[in-house]
Amino acid sequence: MNQMIEQEPQRQRYFMEQMKALVAERSREKGRPLTCMINTFGCQMNARDSEKLLGILETIGFVEADSEEADFVLYNTCTVRDNANQKVYGRLGYLQTLKKKNPDMLIALCGCMMQEPSVIEKIKKSYSHVDIIFGTHNIFKLAELIYNRMMGDRMVIDIWDAAKEIVEDLPVERKFPFKSGVNIMFGCNNFCSYCIVPYVRGRERSRKPEDILAEIRRLVADGVVEVMLLGQNVNSYGTNVETPITFAELLRQVNEIEGLERIRFMTSHPKDLSEDLIEAMRDCKKVCNHLHLPLQSGSSRILGLMNRRYTKESYLELVDKIRAAVPDIALTTDIIVGFPGETEADFQETMDVVRRVRYDSAFTFIYSKRTGTPAAAMENQVPEDVVKVRFDELLQEVQKISGEVCGRDINTTQKVLVECLDDHKEGYVTGRLTNNTVVHFPGDASLIGRIVDVYLEEAKGFYYMGRCDR
Ligand code: 5AD
Ligand code: SF4
Repeated sequence: MNQMIEQEPQRQRYFMEQMKALVAERSREKGRPLTCMINTFGCQMNARDSEKLLGILETIGFVEADSEEADFVLYNTCTVRDNANQKVYGRLGYLQTLKKKNPDMLIALCGCMMQEPSVIEKIKKSYSHVDIIFGTHNIFKLAELIYNRMMGDRMVIDIWDAAKEIVEDLPVERKFPFKSGVNIMFGCNNFCSYCIVPYVRGRERSRKPEDILAEIRRLVADGVVEVMLLGQNVNSYGTNVETPITFAELLRQVNEIEGLERIRFMTSHPKDLSEDLIEAMRDCKKVCNHLHLPLQSGSSRILGLMNRRYTKESYLELVDKIRAAVPDIALTTDIIVGFPGETEADFQETMDVVRRVRYDSAFTFIYSKRTGTPAAAMENQVPEDVVKVRFDELLQEVQKISGEVCGRDINTTQKVLVECLDDHKEGYVTGRLTNNTVVHFPGDASLIGRIVDVYLEEAKGFYYMGRCDR
């Protein structure tokens, strides 16, 4: 029967119906609802994928649990750096003990790590208590995969080498009622020499602008005031759709959506950041005063080896242009320390860029060798102790600067989108400025999801303490 429905998402709707009946039957037997838990590793893309996965699980009748002692546990994995992989292996041992207590428990793995054949081999061999494995290209199939697992008696593995289609219109369960990620494209074509993403997320595919705009309109109707447009390299959005469109044009169209208040986007590759986009950021009032612009290294020689296709000088020029157009913009970045062949002089070039740009914050990473990437085969891998010293020096500088620049709006009133109750201070709430800096101020749950005027009384380095100016 199910072989007959080929078309998506109809095929998945069929499996969701089948699963609804199965889950209802199981929960009748158990005399309680079946519970599920998704543990998400890695980036915003994974976080958004997990919302889609949870949407499917809730549609078929699972109730979200707040611990891994659940009937269905799914790990949405990351493999950008090796420590993310190690964490997953470590936790799989723990899940085995939970499964001994609840033999009906289902354990599923998905995400970037599962796109690596060596990982699948290892799980098959050493972690036979895993029930379902799928990858990054077929998350929409979750209901069908659980159905197959429940109807059979062995591990279900379904990994695709490449995406076949972008499946629209499946359920999504958002983590926040007032803000949401929106995928605008999937995959990456850049092949930075250290990075595994192009191998595990496949080639660049853009969603149609009309699908993106329709999704955002639906979100706004449902109470969303802030969207984060997501893609591995949003600046090359729109080149592979029927009627090509630029990211700048998309931003302008999103900016027109009534009821939407804030637009963020991630991630921008410096090599593709156009003048047109800078103008769009300047002109579009809803686009937040924040740009994440990964540097990776400040040494033009290392940038060449990384295949980043820009230089220290062109990066700094770009920063100047952006700041000329949007003077108060907050800049954040990603930096890798210890790329193969990085000398002390190369590292000092990175420090130099950090001092010149003065980032609001920077994610700093120790280079992690990813098998299959060009950099993994490079000679001159930098010794661990040398990397550690550089990493500490960089982190200290980044934090010092960040503490200085984050206070720039002290003693002014700013718009804050309230996100949650403050988890450290009773009677306080936590929100963000348009430039993404965190603010804590007195308030209650009724403010969550609202944009309010807050007077910034005290700069604490990475955040402010304020008071509501109502
Ligand atoms: N080692 C360390 N950091 C990496 N990143 C990507 N690949 C690696 C790697 N092999 C970092 C980059 C990227 C961020 C998401 O992760 O800085 O921008
Ligand atoms: Fe990786 Fe470079 Fe693509 Fe970013 S742009 S995902 S760092 S290959």
